[in-house]
Amino acid sequence: MNNWDTMLSPYKQAVEELKVKLRGIREQYQKSSKHTPIEFVTGRVKPVSSILDKAKRKNIPLDRLEEEMQDLAGLRIVTQFVEDISTVVSLIRSRTDFVIVEERDYVIEQKESGYRSYHIVLRYPVETISGRRMILVELQIRTLAMNFWATIEHSLNYKYRGEIPEDIKLRLKRAAEAAFQLDEEVSQIRGEVREAQQIITRKQEQQH
Ligand code: GTP
Ligand code: MG
Repeated sequence: MNNWDTMLSPYKQAVEELKVKLRGIREQYQKSSKHTPIEFVTGRVKPVSSILDKAKRKNIPLDRLEEEMQDLAGLRIVTQFVEDISTVVSLIRSRTDFVIVEERDYVIEQKESGYRSYHIVLRYPVETISGRRMILVELQIRTLAMNFWATIEHSLNYKYRGEIPEDIKLRLKRAAEAAFQLDEEVSQIRGEVREAQQIITRKQEQQH
């Protein structure tokens, strides 16, 4: 592959479009003064160095990348509460501007590492000058606590090149358990939290 920019440009387009669309959902909730199930949205195109690393690790031939690497385009939706994840999943399922290819629920079934998140793989249409292309996009939906854990674990994996020492792995497992407990605890008081946030929103509206 000699021109990564050209190959990745529809993926960049898809990431930008989906960021706008998903942030639009948040905007609509905020205007309606209902609790928003979306705290924030991020998106990225996988950097070329990571594409090459993963292709090597998973034995994916470079001419099969677009079919076999599902996360060339990646979007992350972060929520406050675990319950918000299913609200977001329902919203995604009800949309008609893309097709769901696959769902993976690591919220119910956490990974061996302690990782939790809900993954949805989409086929998203990108209009190009040579016609419509249906490209794969990976959505990760997770709480702030799950996101915190995944970010830390990702950094450590990077530092240790995937070979995290056992003692640190154990701490990560305990941290994953603590993140789970945090999600459980705030779930119990989410009515209170939502009410408080609505009061704050109303106050801000009065001031503007
Ligand atoms: P990869 O894990 O991406 O090689 O592909 P897969 O087909 O096994 O998909 P999976 O759903 O397991 O993972 C997809 C993405 O989820 C990864 O690229 C990461 O962004 C994230 N992810 C999966 N497992 C972990 C984990 O243990 N820790 C962290 N930090 N992220 C993970
Ligand atoms: Mg994996």
